[in-house]
Amino acid sequence: MGPYRSYLKKFSEYIFKNKVVSMNTLLSELHKSGFEKIQYTGEALQRFVHNDFTTEEKEWFKAIELLRKKLCNEPTVVEMIDYGAIGDQVQGKIRKRRINEICRSSSKSARWCKLLFSLVTQLKPECILEFGTSLGISGAYLAAAATLNRKGRLLTLEGDTTIAETARNHFKNLRLTNIEVIEGKFAESLLQLREQGIKADLVFVDGNHTFNGTLEIFKALSKSVVSDGIIVFDDICWSDEMQRAWNIIRFSEGVVFSIDMFEIGICYYNYNMNFYNNGFNSSLWL
Ligand SMILES: C[S@@+](CC[C@H](N)C(=O)[O-])C[C@H]1O[C@@H](n2cnc3c(N)ncnc32)[C@H](O)[C@@H]1O
Repeated sequence: MGPYRSYLKKFSEYIFKNKVVSMNTLLSELHKSGFEKIQYTGEALQRFVHNDFTTEEKEWFKAIELLRKKLCNEPTVVEMIDYGAIGDQVQGKIRKRRINEICRSSSKSARWCKLLFSLVTQLKPECILEFGTSLGISGAYLAAAATLNRKGRLLTLEGDTTIAETARNHFKNLRLTNIEVIEGKFAESLLQLREQGIKADLVFVDGNHTFNGTLEIFKALSKSVVSDGIIVFDDICWSDEMQRAWNIIRFSEGVVFSIDMFEIGICYYNYNMNFYNNGFNSSLWL
């Protein structure tokens, strides 16, 4: 069975296994919660679903999508360290890859980037943290929203030096100045952030798509780097490993609510509430 068919099979299994709710049901659940951050997340989902964006916001989307188009046609080959998004067997090896192939395979699609963008416009975070910069596409959406908010900055983590430098150039060309690209392995960068007392209120995890890698990031984030914030996990159903990791995370202590959107998972983590997520989990199929 090819990867596409096996993905479809997983998707249909998922629909049967999970209680998938309608958008209206979910929004009313989020609204009733009484927690501000959950309600803002509901507003972000609403903007995303109704494609409700201002002219100024659409100008940003246009500029970033122009960059994506350019990169998707860029045949330059770069040598980069593979950090093992697809498994430990290639971890740390140097690989030659074309920019167009990296852009097509690694960058989050415009659709989901608009959800990230909406989360920033509604939650107005002071500090956004991204695991996995790559060429800077999702980072550009996050930082553009913070620019429009006139508040907040993006710290984005990338292990490969060449790719990090390429992303910096892209951010510069887009005139996004509220971004810092932090080079190094996630585990090491996380230690630095903790030592510096950095607190993030919105996190996008889009790096190592393995069971251990994803759980390690969640454990390192919780309590110290995120004490009250929204954490978005990418590709939660991409593999059995990712599905297992997500199912542990969403029922972990401090996770007050979670939304499983098949491609991404959103959770609200609040250390101080200190109770287990007990049923406030929704799956939304759009
Ligand atoms: C899927 S790509 C990120 C795509 C980007 N968020 C976007 O949508 O435009 C993942 C990136 O994370 C980096 N990465 C993965 N695991 C890492 C690790 N353990 N430490 C540092 N960087 C890592 C890879 O080098 C890769 O560039």
